[in-house]
Amino acid sequence: MNNDFPHDFVFGVATSAYQIEGAVGEGGRTPSIWDTFSHTPGKTELNHNGDIACDHYHLYKDDVQLIKNLGVGAYRFSTSWNRVFPKGYGEVNQEGMDFYKKLVDELLENNIEPFLTLYHWDLPQCLYDEGGWMNRDTLKAFEEYAGTMVHVLGDKVKNWMTHNEMWCTAMLGHHQGIFAPGESNFKNALQVAHGVLVSHGMAIRAMRSTGQDLNLGIAPNFLPSYPQDPDKERDRKAAANFDGYFNRWFLDPLVGRGYPEDMLNLYGPLCPKVESGDMEIIASDIDFLGVNYYNSNWYTWSEEDKLLHTASVDQPHLEWTADRDIYPEGLYDTLERLYKDYGFKSLYVTENGAAYDDHIDSLDSNRVHDPGRVKFLQDHFDQALRAVKDNIPLNGYFVWSLMDNFEWAAGYTIRYGLHYVDYDTQQRIPKDSALWYKDFIDSGK
Ligand code: FCB
Repeated sequence: MNNDFPHDFVFGVATSAYQIEGAVGEGGRTPSIWDTFSHTPGKTELNHNGDIACDHYHLYKDDVQLIKNLGVGAYRFSTSWNRVFPKGYGEVNQEGMDFYKKLVDELLENNIEPFLTLYHWDLPQCLYDEGGWMNRDTLKAFEEYAGTMVHVLGDKVKNWMTHNEMWCTAMLGHHQGIFAPGESNFKNALQVAHGVLVSHGMAIRAMRSTGQDLNLGIAPNFLPSYPQDPDKERDRKAAANFDGYFNRWFLDPLVGRGYPEDMLNLYGPLCPKVESGDMEIIASDIDFLGVNYYNSNWYTWSEEDKLLHTASVDQPHLEWTADRDIYPEGLYDTLERLYKDYGFKSLYVTENGAAYDDHIDSLDSNRVHDPGRVKFLQDHFDQALRAVKDNIPLNGYFVWSLMDNFEWAAGYTIRYGLHYVDYDTQQRIPKDSALWYKDFIDSGK
């Protein structure tokens, strides 16, 4: 496959703080909700936690070389709020801030452009103890954190994202309870989603007010929801409900449309409490929208689901990675919709990638063969290129992930990396997909 993307198209790789850093007790860092959750027996696969993870805190220079060797021009990572603000707000922990300064300098010295995410799910535990995203003080603390980070790093880091995957923060963390903090209350989850969205707008305003020349955005995840039988009105309604719950609930307010009317009606008394001015704050101008895309779903009408009336239907003709079905066209559909229906002027795929059951070659301990991942990436790159050719303003693509890491509730049992991590030795081995990505980038130079 040739690299036919435009010359200034940004290719990169992505990670997040808790999934790779380790060093949880070092440098003045206090716990986040993920430390607490992963240390609660039974919450993660094999009770895995991020205490050591990829030890990136100590190995960051080597990891920057891995990125450089891929030949990509950009790196998306997140900063740990609790490393920088051990109390969540107030006094900055210099040692924590210095880690990110060093990381950014190392990236720039190697001609890798940083894309920084402020919140990839690791809320300082002390803020959660005071009510977390349900407490407006957390929103103010996030605003302070965002402003401080830009104040310190804004001359070197141009690209910023406030939140990663707000649906997961709210619904996996506060309704399904399978992510930190592990709660199960839908009404609260909607209030959390609202708090997160308002905090996004507050942070955007704080970052903007520094007067720096910045590229500001947010990175929601998208799950295209198709009706199982497009000819059946009830299936179409089921798919629309799921779309409202997953995609539109977060997107519509971001572009100033407020919460979708059909969902407000459906949720009724479960709807979040909205303070005056909130919706304007959420709709603060952003420069780009990040798109995290992994898979799509098909829905049929179900009486069992009393709220959304949806049931997802497996698609036997689709192939699977280790944990999801594969539908590259869903990426195109998403990008097209964000441009045509929502009018976003700049899009980046901020995450896309696949998990496979990778193993080190028994005959060559420097090789890991992952043909499934190579094909997955090729097929998704094809859809991205199709979007670019159709004049959809897609400017970049970040593969999840630079290396295998702590995959949240799945612990280390699921591998998404382009590099294989041997967790006993912390050795990183480029998988065939890393070699493929490197060749692909080279072919465009
Ligand atoms: C996304 C997360 C990322 C990683 C990938 C596989 O939902 O943002 O941290 O877990 O899935």
